[in-house]
Amino acid sequence: MKKIDVVLGLQWGDEGKGKVVDVLTPNYNVIARFQGGPNAGHSLVFNNDSFVLHTVPSGIFRKESVNIIGNGVVIDPVILMDEIKQIETKSADSRSRLMISKRAQLILPTHRMLDAANESSMGKSKIGSTLKGIGPTYMDKIGRYGLRIGDILLDSFKEKYEALKKRHMETLKLYPDFKFDITEYEAKWFDAVEQLKSIKFVDSEHIANEYINDGKAILAEGAQGSMLDIDFGTYPFVTSSNTMTAGVCTGLGVAPNRVGNVYGIFKAYCTRVGNGPFPTELNDQTGEDLRQAGHEFGATTGRPRRCGWLDLVALKYAVMMNGVTDLIMMKSDVLNSMDTIKVAVAYKRGDETMDTFPYDGADNVEPIYKEFEGWKTDICDIRDYDSLPEKFREYVAFIEKETSCPVRIISIGPDREATIFRN
Ligand code: IMO
Ligand code: MG
Repeated sequence: MKKIDVVLGLQWGDEGKGKVVDVLTPNYNVIARFQGGPNAGHSLVFNNDSFVLHTVPSGIFRKESVNIIGNGVVIDPVILMDEIKQIETKSADSRSRLMISKRAQLILPTHRMLDAANESSMGKSKIGSTLKGIGPTYMDKIGRYGLRIGDILLDSFKEKYEALKKRHMETLKLYPDFKFDITEYEAKWFDAVEQLKSIKFVDSEHIANEYINDGKAILAEGAQGSMLDIDFGTYPFVTSSNTMTAGVCTGLGVAPNRVGNVYGIFKAYCTRVGNGPFPTELNDQTGEDLRQAGHEFGATTGRPRRCGWLDLVALKYAVMMNGVTDLIMMKSDVLNSMDTIKVAVAYKRGDETMDTFPYDGADNVEPIYKEFEGWKTDICDIRDYDSLPEKFREYVAFIEKETSCPVRIISIGPDREATIFRN
């Protein structure tokens, strides 16, 4: 049976999904986003140039690829149109290679206000959201109030918009200290909605299934990461969508038995932006060294990312639930100068030792580490696996053993070229 392949992040986002999709796209005719929205920031680096994508699939710079924004995605027209215009300065025909599901939800200006008002009211317990309106938009989708891309073409669009805005304004009264003015953003929003009509609005579930039936190679691109999944992540410090393989089925309209290879991406260490449990976090100089060496600052918000060692308890959990067939290890070069490298193999809380990820998101656990000697070599110019230092290969072999999954691709630098493929 013909299948759709999946590529997604296995940690807390920012694993390097943009680069991987860009590297894999020569093998695919179609790239489709299935969840999330402009909270994502997928960085691509090629020809000494770099680009951050938020809503558009990462295949957009390859002339041969078709790019679909699926029904599971939430869209801010202002951010999407800005992004498309920027893409067009590098790739003039990109608009013709992009289509959007009529069923994708719209992020309204007031969704952003609700996100900001809610976060600012939560004080220390705030999620640390990207403030793009993601949570409130998915709440309206599930609550059955949301506006969808297809609604833009209805005569009643403005009416529907006003009705939803009115609901939001009522809710915003719960936050009397939160001052806001959306007049300017609202004007830009309606302008962007008009411009959006130049892109194909489609029934993407039919298109995706037709592509699969026709034997076209199709790749679903995840945003965020498994530990931010609404069901299985470190709830409530998560995003508001299913970031895992299951989300491909609901976010694109393809059946579970149509899912083929699942490429799970992880960094050779861990990062997290925003609040919430992070068992292997390093609040010391080593954490700072990782941040500097890995340029760990948010692509969407510019926030410094929290850094720590690789967490195999969490990684095994993510591999299990995503049905990962191939692992992809990113940013391995960031560990080049480390004397010692640690990986968490279990957690300890009081007298209890855990080797599976707990329901409470591993809050207040202490990791139990296995230590590896660092390879202390610049590996950036190496292009075949056997030429990598032995200590590096030991690190990879341990991850493969623990996860029971092969590491097929290893990234050793941001550029497309800095990639090692294994058979
Ligand atoms: P990519 O696709 C890293 C985090 C936020 C916050 C939580 C909820 O680039 O990997 P939201 O705005 O979704 O309501 O925020 O999720 N978050 C991400 N962290 N990478 C992302 O996307 C993220 N998208 C959301 O920091 O903790
Ligand atoms: Mg990001």
